[in-house]
Amino acid sequence: MTVANWPVAELHVHIEGTLETELLVVLARRNDVALPSYDPDALRELYRFTDLQSFLDIYYANLAVLRTEADFYDLGMAYLTRASAAGVRRAEIFFDPQTHLANGIPLDVVFGGLTRALADARATLGISADLILCFLRHLGGAAALQTLDAAVPFLDQFIGVGLDSAEVGFPPSLFTEVFARAKALGLHRVAHAGEEGGPDYVHEALDLLGVERVDHGIRAIEDPGLVEILRERQVPLTVCPLSNVCLRATPTLAEHALPAMLAAGLLVTINSDDPAYFGGYIDDNLSALQREFGLDNQQLATLARNSFRASFLPEAEKRRHI
Ligand code: ADE
Ligand code: ZN
Repeated sequence: MTVANWPVAELHVHIEGTLETELLVVLARRNDVALPSYDPDALRELYRFTDLQSFLDIYYANLAVLRTEADFYDLGMAYLTRASAAGVRRAEIFFDPQTHLANGIPLDVVFGGLTRALADARATLGISADLILCFLRHLGGAAALQTLDAAVPFLDQFIGVGLDSAEVGFPPSLFTEVFARAKALGLHRVAHAGEEGGPDYVHEALDLLGVERVDHGIRAIEDPGLVEILRERQVPLTVCPLSNVCLRATPTLAEHALPAMLAAGLLVTINSDDPAYFGGYIDDNLSALQREFGLDNQQLATLARNSFRASFLPEAEKRRHI
């Protein structure tokens, strides 16, 4: 078995970040939305990022092309088809409803398209997938609460909540109330922390939001006390190496925290984050790690096992994969 089809769970992927420039152009033409170019290669050339915000600016602007239920369906199906070829058997997929609401797209359109794609992918590709609704931290806690209230009629269509967008300046403490409400609704809870923000953001996500997984978490390695907590509790960390290099959260892949995180006994999983922007899907991330760090089959098997352990699948289903 090669890295390309090693069975894994993907736990950190933003569906909006899987919008390839080819589909971007199709949707722009379909919906009469202006783009800086209609050449997919020329659009990809614009993807030169210096930090998280420089990526977010382009990522949010591109999402203006998503208008109809069919657009969200096509986006979801395209990711699930590519992920299935990469060996993904289970996907827990982030989406950003506040971006679409701000673009005038009602929640039922977003849920309608994505949920139909997940059901069709299960039937035709045998891939299991669920949605995690993310709050945009730059819009603050009150807007997050409003969004969760608006999503209550769709509770059967998502399994958890997450926290993403610009990290520094928007600490987890701003979202304590909405995460408590999500817990009361029986939802899973995850949050981006320790991507650009420091270890204090990871502490807050654990202590104030009660997250079950930390998304990224690479800067946790700077705080030995925090590493000990994460190791002892086996809190999963959804690490995205190619994303970290593209957004300069790490200077080079060679200097990535992953080997230190594994050596410290942390429950690390490998994921793609926004594969259309960062040069690769989950198999590309695993291949890059294999090339850089010479991961052997045993280490790859550990990462794959970790991904199912860290998933929100029921225990019996997890055991079938581990
Ligand atoms: N939204 C999409 N990708 C993200 C990332 N890597 N960090 C924070 N928010 C995001
Ligand atoms: Zn992310």
